[in-house]
Amino acid sequence: MPPNLISFNTNPQNSFRDAIPERTGKINQIHIKEKLSQLDISLDQIRLGDFDQIGEITARKNRDPGSDLYKKVGAYFRPNYERGILIYSLIRKYNLKSYLEIGFGRGYSCMCAALALSENGGGEIVSIDPNLDEEFLNNLSKTFPSDWFKMIRFVKGKSQEYLADEKQRSKKYDLIYIDGDHTYEATKRDWELCKDNYNNFLIFDDYHLPGKVQKDIECSNLIDQIEDDSKELIIMDRRIFLDDRGYSDEEIDYGQVLLTR
Ligand SMILES: C[S@@+](CC[C@H](N)C(=O)[O-])C[C@H]1O[C@@H](n2cnc3c(N)ncnc32)[C@H](O)[C@@H]1O
Repeated sequence: MPPNLISFNTNPQNSFRDAIPERTGKINQIHIKEKLSQLDISLDQIRLGDFDQIGEITARKNRDPGSDLYKKVGAYFRPNYERGILIYSLIRKYNLKSYLEIGFGRGYSCMCAALALSENGGGEIVSIDPNLDEEFLNNLSKTFPSDWFKMIRFVKGKSQEYLADEKQRSKKYDLIYIDGDHTYEATKRDWELCKDNYNNFLIFDDYHLPGKVQKDIECSNLIDQIEDDSKELIIMDRRIFLDDRGYSDEEIDYGQVLLTR
């Protein structure tokens, strides 16, 4: 390096990253089955086939053909279909009428919410995602009931921009699901924009206990900072559906965080 050249970090993300609070992992934990039972929802009332059908089109994943599990247990897996069971159950049990979703993905949770709202007699869904694909949505609308699609407003954009808009700032929803950009900065902004706007429940996806590390999944760094007595980590992912990985409950070090009002 020439002597007149100093090394200067021009990557603002890196300097910001130093400011991310450490995860504490201090959070009450509850198993998904126990949570449903606490909500007085019996597993007998839940039709697992409905979630399997929705998941088949919107969430099923392919295993890497080179992996051991591909060889030993199969080509496909059902990644945490229980998030849909939780959303569905809350909407049905509490007769919720509106659902805001940050991060549509392939639409699994959105369709589970639509199923529940339609069974409740109707409602409103807003789903925001910068990567919405029109052709994919058209195909979905041919697969699922048209009544579901009449309830949904799709917003192609970033939640941090859409929800900051003056017209959206005061809008409230019965249930908000934060499952978009999982970096600390974006999750913090989503939380700031949603914390006064949910009537009943707010769910964060992808809370990871301190042992679990995954690039750009930093929701826990923010969630650990939230002071709310209702805050609880619901341990889930193939706890109700069969887990062909064979993980015990103790091995599941992640889940969704529920805030209740
Ligand atoms: C894990 S997927 C969502 C899955 C979906 N909620 C479900 O449960 O089926 C995350 C989605 O967030 C979207 N996303 C990324 N950044 C976003 C942002 N700033 N605002 C809203 N959505 C975002 C991605 O495009 C991706 O589709």
